[in-house]
Amino acid sequence: MAKKLVNKITIVGCGPGSKKYITGYARQRIKKADAIIGSRRLLELFSDVEAEKFVINKNYKLLITRIISLSRSNNVVVLVSGDPGFFSYAKLIIDKVGVENCEVIPGISSVQLAFAAIGKTWNDACFVSLHGRKAEISTLIKKVKGHSKVAVLTDNTNNLKLIANGLLNEGLKDRKIYICENLSLDKERIREFDVLSAQKARIRGLNVIIILDDE
Ligand SMILES: C[S@@+](CC[C@H](N)C(=O)[O-])C[C@H]1O[C@@H](n2cnc3c(N)ncnc32)[C@H](O)[C@@H]1O
Repeated sequence: MAKKLVNKITIVGCGPGSKKYITGYARQRIKKADAIIGSRRLLELFSDVEAEKFVINKNYKLLITRIISLSRSNNVVVLVSGDPGFFSYAKLIIDKVGVENCEVIPGISSVQLAFAAIGKTWNDACFVSLHGRKAEISTLIKKVKGHSKVAVLTDNTNNLKLIANGLLNEGLKDRKIYICENLSLDKERIREFDVLSAQKARIRGLNVIIILDDE
C-alpha cells in the first residue's frame, strides 16, 4: 500500500473542451482547489478560479514529483481532458501515489461525444489511441480487421492520412470513416468519408476518427 498523503490529489475529467460539458461536481471541486495543474487549454476554462495555476509540461516524472510536493500543504486538483480513465495521465499519478490518495472525478470523454454526434452506440466499439505514440498503425489495422466499429484518438503525426493509407494498403477500402473534429468547440465539424476520399481530406485540430464496417 502507498504511503498516505496529507491531502488527497483530486483528478478531474474536464470533458471535451467546452464549459457546457464540465459536470457540476467537477466545477465544485475545482472551486475549492488551492492549486490547479493542467494544460494551458484546460486552465483557461477556469480563469475565474483564484487558485494558483501550473501548466503541465511533458516531463511526467517531474510533474508527479511536483504534484506530490504541492499536495503536502495544498488542496491540489489535476485537470485532464475528457475522462481520466480513458487514455490520460491520470493512470501515471494513480500508479505512483495509489488510488487511496486520489479522488478521481469522471468527465465526458471525446469518444462519448463523437458517438453521440454520429448517432451510434459505443458499447460495441473498440478503442485505439495513436495520440503521442510512435506510429502503431499495424495495431490499428489489426483492430479494424477484427472489429466492425473502431474509434481512434489521433494527433498531428498519427493522422487521418496515415490511417486512410494504412487501410488502403491492407485492402480495407470499403470501410466508412467519420471524422469528428473539435468536438464541443468553435470549429466543431462532423464528416463522413469513404477511405479513398478520407486520404485527401483536410482536417484541423483535435479529432476522433470512427471506422465502421457497415456490411
Ligand atoms: C490524450 S487523449 C485524451 C483523451 C481524453 N481522456 C478523453 O476522454 O477524451 C487526447 C486525444 O483525445 C481526442 N480529443 C480530445 N478532445 C477532443 C475534442 N474536443 N474533439 C475531438 N477530439 C478530441 C483527440 O484525439 C486527442 O488527440
